Amino acid sequence: MTATPVRRLLPLLPTHPGGRSAQTCHFRCGDQCAQPVPNTSGNRYFGDVLAEGISRRSVVRAGALGAAVVGLASWGQATPAAARPTHAGSHGFTAIDPVPSTVDAVTVPEGYRWEPVASWGDPVLPGAPAFDFDAQTPEAQRQQFGYNCDYVAVLGAGNAAGAKAVMVVNHEYTNDNLMFRDYTDAAGLSIEQLEIIMAAHGMSVVEVRRQGARRAWRVDPAGRRNRRIHTHTELRLDGPAAGSEHLRTSADPTGTVVLGTLNNCAGGTTPWGTVLSGEENFHQYFNATGAADPDGRLRRYGITGGGRGWERADSRFLVAEEPNEVNRHGWIVEVDPEDPTSAPVKHTALGRFKHEGATVALAADGRAVAYMGDDERYDYLYKFVSAQSMRRGNSAAARRHNLQLLAEGDLYVARFTGDGFEDGVYDGTGEWLPLVLDGRSQVPGFTVAEVLVWTRLAADTVGATKMDRPEDVEPNPANGRVYAALTNNTRRTPGEIDEANPRANNRFGHVIEIDPDGGDHASRTFGWNIVLVCGDPEDPTTYYAGFDKSDVSPISCPDNVAFDREGNLWISTDGQPGTLGYNDGLFMMPVDGDQRGNLQQFLAVPVGAETCGPVIDPTGLSVLVAVQHPGEVTGASPDTVVSQFPYLGDGQPRPGVIHVVPQ
Ligand code: FEO
Ligand code: CA
Ligand code: CA
Ligand code: CA
Repeated sequence: MTATPVRRLLPLLPTHPGGRSAQTCHFRCGDQCAQPVPNTSGNRYFGDVLAEGISRRSVVRAGALGAAVVGLASWGQATPAAARPTHAGSHGFTAIDPVPSTVDAVTVPEGYRWEPVASWGDPVLPGAPAFDFDAQTPEAQRQQFGYNCDYVAVLGAGNAAGAKAVMVVNHEYTNDNLMFRDYTDAAGLSIEQLEIIMAAHGMSVVEVRRQGARRAWRVDPAGRRNRRIHTHTELRLDGPAAGSEHLRTSADPTGTVVLGTLNNCAGGTTPWGTVLSGEENFHQYFNATGAADPDGRLRRYGITGGGRGWERADSRFLVAEEPNEVNRHGWIVEVDPEDPTSAPVKHTALGRFKHEGATVALAADGRAVAYMGDDERYDYLYKFVSAQSMRRGNSAAARRHNLQLLAEGDLYVARFTGDGFEDGVYDGTGEWLPLVLDGRSQVPGFTVAEVLVWTRLAADTVGATKMDRPEDVEPNPANGRVYAALTNNTRRTPGEIDEANPRANNRFGHVIEIDPDGGDHASRTFGWNIVLVCGDPEDPTTYYAGFDKSDVSPISCPDNVAFDREGNLWISTDGQPGTLGYNDGLFMMPVDGDQRGNLQQFLAVPVGAETCGPVIDPTGLSVLVAVQHPGEVTGASPDTVVSQFPYLGDGQPRPGVIHVVPQ
């Protein structure tokens, strides 16, 4: 990198705590960041533990990497390159300068260009109408690409002319105020508009083709596997809580079939070729007015408000009327993109919370290990270990077996213990505390079904570490370590800091590197260290794994992580405009070798957007990202447009997925 970073050219935009615009908070998380923290459990902070004089450091950093290795040619699950050396300065691109937060452009490095792959409203199903901003209908939206894209998976890689793959995309939430010219507030939405909004949530599966390494993926609107999953789609519940009294409703007395998946944020691609999707801020779609909450179960999940008006279109969103419907959301969903007729599955064995996503690695014995974050201030990191091992191969029997893997297994929550800061590094040891083991609850007073449906309350009782908003938690296929993005937590007070969350008023977030003991993802113990403390590099509280900070990029609010074939960590951000005054972006940081900590910015998304779903081409030549909520700036509306991304001439911002390719 040669250019000097542009620093703080602009006044910071007005934001809610944590760096998002007020509109992001309203439409995405139902203003949760302006609400009281729902975790009022007595779990101790490590400051308390340290004060008691506990200081341990006994971890042997294991070097065995083999357990993480999986061999599918999938972009979502990078294939490791064995023993590939890390070359000094080998980022493969020249970093861009930080981009001021008013710029309405996608900024990519010299030698690259970008193209839209799929945008809100693009036809997904055969016969779907072309997008028309001023003539939206629920029927059209159910056949078209959904709104705000987050997780992106591409299964089936290839650069050759005619290469074919299937792309799976989450649609997390909608910016209702940017979708309709006559928007006033939730109460003013017509039933038809509510149906359009509901149809724009969920997921899209689209076949894509490309014509060579310098060409972008293009959607094939006639693809056999194309499908839309939305609030009218039937999904199946499986695992120990399925069918339990907590999940039965008047429309579904079996407690096993649910309509729709909500607020699908990040996700993961499994080694057996399916896609996992996290239901995150599901609370906001439910109107809890008048609902009884004697045990604080609703409050612990933030289900307290008036909702987004959906109960006017469908009474199941009124908690007082249908109290168990809300229990059927907040799960990890598995989609088999190969079979467009299959019902996606909500896996109750993986617990219910505000799931950022889930990423799977294989344990030494082939069991599936899913790492998961609960994205709320002071909430927890979780891990699921399947009871059975994955079967290799693509036979029908192997596929059937693997599609059951996430139905049964053990669930854990993380406790981090620091070792003091004398060595200049925040690090220590950790433990996975069992919530469910061998089909039995490990939490006194909770049945297995109760642990899984009210996982937050169960975890509150076992001494889990309260984290600074866990986002992506993802194993690095190249080195076997696991990387957890803690995006920010401005509520943390000096009295609440611990070594795993070492900064009070943590506006900029940090990234923890977890090293499973014995190199085995099934291990109950681990070593950890903070590999990145984000912010302006000139801020003395920032830390780039010890790398010289004079030439690294500023970064704030890490959200999604991904890895390239060499194991370099790629981080996308959500919240730079309000914290650094820069557009959100995508960054690359080597985590091994002499470049460890040399973080460089690869791209920036347009004004108002966050960067999501990074997918790194296994060949190392190209990158896909989701541009979520472009133009989401206070005061913006369809008649006061702030972003016109992806600049297709229709004058309105259209969230979507882009492919950055070499020129
Ligand atoms: Fe949807 Fe945790 O971001
Ligand atoms: Ca230390
Ligand atoms: Ca996220
Ligand atoms: Ca990820």
